[in-house]
Amino acid sequence: MDAYQHHGKQCVPETWTTLLQAARERVPQVSGPHRQLSTFLNIALDKADDRYDYRSYLALPLLPIPDPERDTERADRLLARRDRLHLLLLSDLIAFEIHALDTTKAPLPQLRPDPLLVRKRLRHATRSAAPALRRLSFDLHAVGDPVTLARRLIAMTSIDRSSDERLTMRTTMLPVSTVHDEYLFIRVLQTFELTFGLLAVDLTAVTTAVAEARLPAAGTRLTLAATLLRETAPLWSLLATMQPRAFHTFRTHTDGASAIQSRAYKLVESLCRAPSHQRLDSAAYLSVPDVRARLIDGQLSVDNALDIIRADHHVLAEMPVLADGLRHFAAAVHQWRRTHYSLAIRMLGTDQPGTGDTPGTPYLLHGRDQPVFSHSSKASGREEGTM
Ligand code: HEM
Repeated sequence: MDAYQHHGKQCVPETWTTLLQAARERVPQVSGPHRQLSTFLNIALDKADDRYDYRSYLALPLLPIPDPERDTERADRLLARRDRLHLLLLSDLIAFEIHALDTTKAPLPQLRPDPLLVRKRLRHATRSAAPALRRLSFDLHAVGDPVTLARRLIAMTSIDRSSDERLTMRTTMLPVSTVHDEYLFIRVLQTFELTFGLLAVDLTAVTTAVAEARLPAAGTRLTLAATLLRETAPLWSLLATMQPRAFHTFRTHTDGASAIQSRAYKLVESLCRAPSHQRLDSAAYLSVPDVRARLIDGQLSVDNALDIIRADHHVLAEMPVLADGLRHFAAAVHQWRRTHYSLAIRMLGTDQPGTGDTPGTPYLLHGRDQPVFSHSSKASGREEGTM
């Protein structure tokens, strides 16, 4: 890990990658006790193997991100698990920023931000952690100097960290460059991925609840999911502290890794409403083959489930709670897309292509205002997006 952070994945010397490849050949199998090691080696060697993509860039297979195919725990337990990982990711980022303030020996020395910018970054990082801290009963007394608060947050969250958690944090930071701000970029993307994963589990549960005509339960879960998505807003302010020059420097090595390949985001989108045939056959879904396969296999969406029960007038009497949930969730997604688009415009303008083989921000503009559910406005009698 030290060598990778010293050189940046793009420039790790071949002597290292050759040794790692030889080591990988001796790791018996991808499943079983060595699963984590072989997964790590595949991630570390993605550039050498010419298999580099968004998932390997962010080391997503090493992060315990909720998945609807696997995670059937109760909603409160899943949320607690998500909150803990959310805090781990943010406190690791904070620890890196503080380490770089305190010493000249921190990794990723290129384009260090000035201390004023770091203070702002730490303030947004602590704000991003606040709701999860509250739910897990940590009391941060969130007033005062951002650096002091950030130090307190690290101290609080590192007390009972397990060795597995430390290993996960250590092995999931493989930047392509030695640019300081890439650390921020990677941790923020991972944090969003974690929340999308949980939302995908929530939406799967909502679809089942609708199909079983438990409409108030579906509505309540949707409203809670909307609240969680809205809570991620400070992560955008945090990411907006990334220096554009830094972004453009490491971005020269991230071609082929784009969030268009985010499985969790596409699960969320398609669990709300099945994509059109045109979108299914475009880069949007061709970039997430397993989600596309689920759709071709007939994955049920909240919209489909609503279509099925609409004929039942008795059930429709319980629509208001569900209509509220649909409206809140659609509004939260629209807000997310608008903020994403604004930041992308700020960093890329309108004419720089994306790293996912799209024209860049024009692709995002096209998707930005697409409806989240086709039912939300019909169900509530109001336009979605107005909370
Ligand atoms: C500097 C910040 C960012 C910029 C400049 C940016 C830019 C872009 C661009 C240009 C695309 C179009 C696809 C392509 O890459 O060719 C895209 C797609 C996407 N981005 Fe970002 N992005 C940023 C941050 C984020 C973050 C923090 C997330 C959170 C996970 C995110 C999630 C997504 C998703 C899910 C898509 C696919 C959307 C779709 O297919 O409809 N982006 N982004």
